[in-house]
Amino acid sequence: MDLRIDGKIALVTGASRGIGRATAQMLAGEGADVVVGFRQDSPGADETVSAIDRLGRYAWPCRMDVTDPDAVEQALSELPEQARRLDMLIHCAGEAPVGSLSELTCAEWNRVVDVNLNGAFHLLHAAQSLLREGGSVVMVASVAAQTGVPHQAHYAAAKAGLVNLTKSAARELAPAIRVNCVAPGMTLTEMGRQTATGLPPDYAKTKLLLQRFAEPEEIARCIVFLASPASSFITGATLDVNGGRYLR
Ligand SMILES: NC(=O)c1ccc[n+]([C@@H]2O[C@H](COP(=O)([O-])OP(=O)(O)OC[C@H]3O[C@@H](n4cnc5c(N)ncnc54)[C@H](OP(=O)(O)O)[C@@H]3O)[C@@H](O)[C@H]2O)c1
Repeated sequence: MDLRIDGKIALVTGASRGIGRATAQMLAGEGADVVVGFRQDSPGADETVSAIDRLGRYAWPCRMDVTDPDAVEQALSELPEQARRLDMLIHCAGEAPVGSLSELTCAEWNRVVDVNLNGAFHLLHAAQSLLREGGSVVMVASVAAQTGVPHQAHYAAAKAGLVNLTKSAARELAPAIRVNCVAPGMTLTEMGRQTATGLPPDYAKTKLLLQRFAEPEEIARCIVFLASPASSFITGATLDVNGGRYLR
């Protein structure tokens, strides 16, 4: 299938590692140029940029903490002219710390909502005017948005908000821009491996139809599909990519 993203420009937040990096590299492999968003992991972002260079595409590292609306505006305004016309905007940045409802402080709650939900708003708000007509947005939520998660109520609530933000933004930006969401299950990244340490060892075997966790590329493939014109009649949707989590 031709994804028709050759020569298009994407911005991916959270691209210094994990699912965001896999997405950025896959987009470049399909011919897109990529703005590589990161918060602090400059060497990680440089690795993503080098991988994209090797694929013969342009990559621009872009440091921005998505929790800070001014920093997001500033970072976008400093992009080279060529990178300031976006075809695809992908919000992959996220954080998933643990904390029980009785122990979480308000500051901890707010930080997680800030990264996972408010950050998406800051990004949409600042980047909307850069998106070309016919462009698309993909939010990366989580299976947690549907199931809830003990000791991660802040994370699950923020991701549920992101699923709903997707629908509202899809309504508001149609027909010029499509807005969709991918809701991954447990994926083997730094975040996923850390979360998995708190689960029973037989979790994948007993809870997932496919009996294993995802590789980042398996999530990236779905993000790239929804970002690309290959999904031209899909908007406001959330694609569950969780190995059959709901059915077991
Ligand atoms: N892995 C899973 O099991 C899983 C499951 C469901 C959903 N997800 C979601 O998938 C997305 C990617 O997860 P991942 O597993 O790839 O995570 P990861 O490996 O921990 O990477 C997180 C990325 O987010 C960036 N980031 C964190 N806070 C940020 C902030 N305030 N501003 C800008 N960037 C920020 C990090 O940048 P720096 O490195 O520069 O700090 C990093 O690039 C997240 O939204 C996550 O919630 C993951």
